Amino acid sequence: MKDVEVTVMRYDPEEGGNPRYETFTVESKKNMTVLDSLFLIVENQDPTLSFRCACRLGMCGSCGMLINGRGRLACRTKIEHLGDQIKVEPMRNMDIIKDLSVNMDKFFKSWEKVKPYFVPKENTDEFSIIPPSSGRREIIDENQDCITCGLCFQSCDTVSLRNGEFIGPAALNRGYTLIADERDGLREERLDMLSETAEGAFGCRTLGACVEVCPKGIKPMVTIQKIKTKKLKKSLGLKW
Ligand code: FES
Repeated sequence: MKDVEVTVMRYDPEEGGNPRYETFTVESKKNMTVLDSLFLIVENQDPTLSFRCACRLGMCGSCGMLINGRGRLACRTKIEHLGDQIKVEPMRNMDIIKDLSVNMDKFFKSWEKVKPYFVPKENTDEFSIIPPSSGRREIIDENQDCITCGLCFQSCDTVSLRNGEFIGPAALNRGYTLIADERDGLREERLDMLSETAEGAFGCRTLGACVEVCPKGIKPMVTIQKIKTKKLKKSLGLKW
């Protein structure tokens, strides 16, 4: 056991003023996570500290924060890997509700723009099942695990610079999973939608922060390049 200093950004838009930083000393134990330390602060030092979480297992995606300057899930980030001084701030590119809780409307509005749901082809059940040996499942498998935590969206400088005019890595990754699924009835429409405006794949500046922060190991920057490739192939009349 040892003491660590957890410095947390505090801000309440209803009170106004500027964000400030407050440091709490927390007794850390082996395997304790940053989320555990925030709970200890609420239980023992300041019950007004606000943050969001649900599953505490790295599955729901609700505990995304900036921890020592990098986007991470608080419930999957162990204190012993961070040193004695930890700085916790809310995610970027979203409005702060209070302290570490952010309003994810901007993120989910982008998500909605790609029509993130499967639409079966009409009048055919030809592709309703993907045969295990076909290799078609592997094309999208690695992209399916997104938990919509928003960490890639908050890390993306193109999202910051374009101020809402680039839909961001997570939504484009989701769009790709459907474009690459031959059973989807909207895949051609999706491909055009995600590649014909600067909001979409061609707005990506391949900065790569999304790849660094994804807690599920998804590589949205790579996926976005695949959308561009498909669009070029389609434009040249090639199989895509
Ligand atoms: S609380 Fe669900 S991912 Fe962290």
